[in-house]
Amino acid sequence: MNEKTKITENIIGNVNSNTNESGFCQWRSPSNIALVKYWGKKQEQIPCNPSISFTLKNAHTTTNLEWKRKNASSDKHVDFTFYFQGKKNEIFKRRIQKYLNRLAIEIPHLLKYDLNIASQNTFPHSSGIASSASAMSALAAALVDMERQIKTTSDADSLDKNEHNYRTSAFSRLGSGSACRSIYPKAALWGKCSVEDSSDEYAIALEYILHPHFQDYKDAILLVDQGEKRVSSSAGHQLMNGNPYASARYARAAENTETLLSILQSGHLDDFTLLVEEEAMTLHALMMASSPGYILMHPNTLYIIDRVRQFRIDSGIPICFTLDAGPNVHLLYPGNERESVYDFITSELLRYCDGSQWIDDEMGPGIQQIS
Ligand code: PMV
Repeated sequence: MNEKTKITENIIGNVNSNTNESGFCQWRSPSNIALVKYWGKKQEQIPCNPSISFTLKNAHTTTNLEWKRKNASSDKHVDFTFYFQGKKNEIFKRRIQKYLNRLAIEIPHLLKYDLNIASQNTFPHSSGIASSASAMSALAAALVDMERQIKTTSDADSLDKNEHNYRTSAFSRLGSGSACRSIYPKAALWGKCSVEDSSDEYAIALEYILHPHFQDYKDAILLVDQGEKRVSSSAGHQLMNGNPYASARYARAAENTETLLSILQSGHLDDFTLLVEEEAMTLHALMMASSPGYILMHPNTLYIIDRVRQFRIDSGIPICFTLDAGPNVHLLYPGNERESVYDFITSELLRYCDGSQWIDDEMGPGIQQIS
């Protein structure tokens, strides 16, 4: 089998053609914050190590998808219009074009329709908050829904809930690796490891293993800089290829995945802090150790980290920080500590944020159908 063809056939089955002429659906999907980081990939977003994330709630993308059958199907090129925040966006359109053309290998019926896609974010894109994660998973959920609606007979209809989620997750992954984790409530695991059903092609749900301590976690996203990142995640993944620490990193990440799975079950908050902060620092150390090296943290990122560590000692509250590929800081803490943490943020941390901006977020339900 050609590597570029039907790579998800094992979970997708074959897709038959449709009857419906036109239709519409609307899906919402959140961003997620990685605890064990995915950094380094092989072809088509196959990760070099497993990763674990918390699913967020308020930082999300809502995507409307309309489709209308064409008189003649196009060859290899999906026809669509794309609006972001109500306006045509050519830069995003190019990326989505690539994604849809790739997806048409898996689901050829896409070539028979004109699509109209409109997306809205609740947060700034490309600022180190995983906007591609929410955007690509919302679009993938809509495309899977479209497929369900236009089929009369299809293997897609006979998928059970897990298989349906795996399919949405695998389609999300083809758009952006970390997007495949956004679809599940509360927490997700992506990448082959000791857990049954774990896969490099799609993420699986972790909610069912979470200790009560981890059932209600908050994430305060401190927006140190809302501008575009200087080095994109794609370029960052690429640079892992020549990174001299890459193999040690992949081994450590696999180890940290297993350790974190135990922590999430046992509820040990101190161990959680230690591991999550190690992962954040390692991610940025890998960027600095790339060739050429680069730094995405800002001075204010470091001030916040320092303050948070001191606050943890002074208050005894098990708050910890993590970072994505950008300068913004995610503060993770149990929901019952919200009042004290809120006071801490507003009195001591907002001075380090761009325009005093932050996103008060928490674990959320994953993808949701809006209409
Ligand atoms: O999904 P990508 O290609 O945008 O990569 C995301 C990488 C990190 O956000 C830094 C880590 C992760 O696991 O989400």
